[in-house]
Amino acid sequence: MIILPKIRQNICLTAHPDGCREQVREQIDYVCSQPSIKGPKRVLIIGASNGYGLAARIVSAFSCGAATAGVFLERPGTESRTATVGWYNNLAFEEAAEEAGLMAFSVNGDSFSDEVKDRTVQRIRGEMGPVDCVLYSIAAPRRIDVATGQIYSSVVKPIGRTFSGMTVDIKTGEMKEVVAEPATEEEIAETVKVMGGEDWMDWISALSDGGVLARGAVTAALSYVGPEITAPIYRDGTMGRAKRHLEATAREINRRFADQDLRAVISVNKALVTRASAVIPTVTLYISLLYSVMKSKGIHEGCIQQMVRLYRDYFYAADPKPLDSDGRIRLDDWEMRDDVQREVAALWRQIDDDPSRPVREIDGFRDEFLRHHGFEMPGVDYDLDVETS
Ligand SMILES: NC(=O)c1ccc[n+]([C@@H]2O[C@H](COP(=O)([O-])OP(=O)(O)OC[C@H]3O[C@@H](n4cnc5c(N)ncnc54)[C@H](O)[C@@H]3O)[C@@H](O)[C@H]2O)c1
Repeated sequence: MIILPKIRQNICLTAHPDGCREQVREQIDYVCSQPSIKGPKRVLIIGASNGYGLAARIVSAFSCGAATAGVFLERPGTESRTATVGWYNNLAFEEAAEEAGLMAFSVNGDSFSDEVKDRTVQRIRGEMGPVDCVLYSIAAPRRIDVATGQIYSSVVKPIGRTFSGMTVDIKTGEMKEVVAEPATEEEIAETVKVMGGEDWMDWISALSDGGVLARGAVTAALSYVGPEITAPIYRDGTMGRAKRHLEATAREINRRFADQDLRAVISVNKALVTRASAVIPTVTLYISLLYSVMKSKGIHEGCIQQMVRLYRDYFYAADPKPLDSDGRIRLDDWEMRDDVQREVAALWRQIDDDPSRPVREIDGFRDEFLRHHGFEMPGVDYDLDVETS
């Protein structure tokens, strides 16, 4: 099949297997070009097929030489339909790991289910040995309670007030006004149920009960704070509420598993183009402007650079960088620098003042989004008929 990008409502419905392989290969090459990190030996990554989780898996394997177990939810391709991007990413990762003689196994299934947790624990016990690092990097739209059949959905909505702002249509590059009504109490609770810390805690409990959590292990989950511009729809909205729950869960994990010397931390990461961030209104425009400012200052990073910093400067540093006053790692430090935020705000004001101004910065977002799905990668022949499965 000749595969072209098919974008609807900022979701790309197709992915290119060769482009995804190339994109994973680029991340591996970056990691291999850096000094290796004396890090973990056996790592579990929950949400390992894309974005930050995939990058963490690549750093664990190719910088630290660790065995890795990856959990994710991805769909294989059929004759008439491409697989999801994470499916191709994972194939590429496993191929590269095997070539490099690195042990890796993957579990494709619903992170929230007991069945996937049990299967993962059994495989860790049988094939890998107790894990010394667990990264929780799930971004999910919903969670199904298998026992009752109840579906919880996560929504990106403001709390207590209506929000209106500009967002980017990735397909056309046009700006659109979006209006989001305040979330109901039920929507807030459901978002916390999906994107809060409950599942992270359940994973740590399952690993501990199953005897596959090494003493002195480290576990991290990822958060986001962001600037004032996106605060009404993110930090002060339903997602922010879920992140607060995630952060409280880190403290709870530290209390509950203190006897095993487990260390749970929150890493506040930078805003980046991923499948998850592309569907958050206003954040798409903010990221477009942020990328252009950070690139012009030579401080732009992708998922892989962020994850190298997480391991090198915090988790496995002889002299780790300081945490913030809430005990969190701040990988968004360069994003939140005053000079960066001042310039982003100035660009934002220009757009507000003159909505007809062409927003060239959107091109950068679109390019990155397409690359993220395996399109527009250098060296890939997109006219070739490729196997989708
Ligand atoms: N992208 C950003 O700008 C950004 C910034 C800071 C923090 N974060 C946080 O990082 C984390 C990961 O986000 P991302 O942007 O890398 O997401 P992503 O969409 O790129 O990847 C999400 C991963 O979760 C997996 N997943 C989704 N539902 C699942 C399920 N039910 N069972 C098993 N696996 C499932 C997917 O397969 C994939 O591996 C999230 O907590 C997000 O809030 C993201």
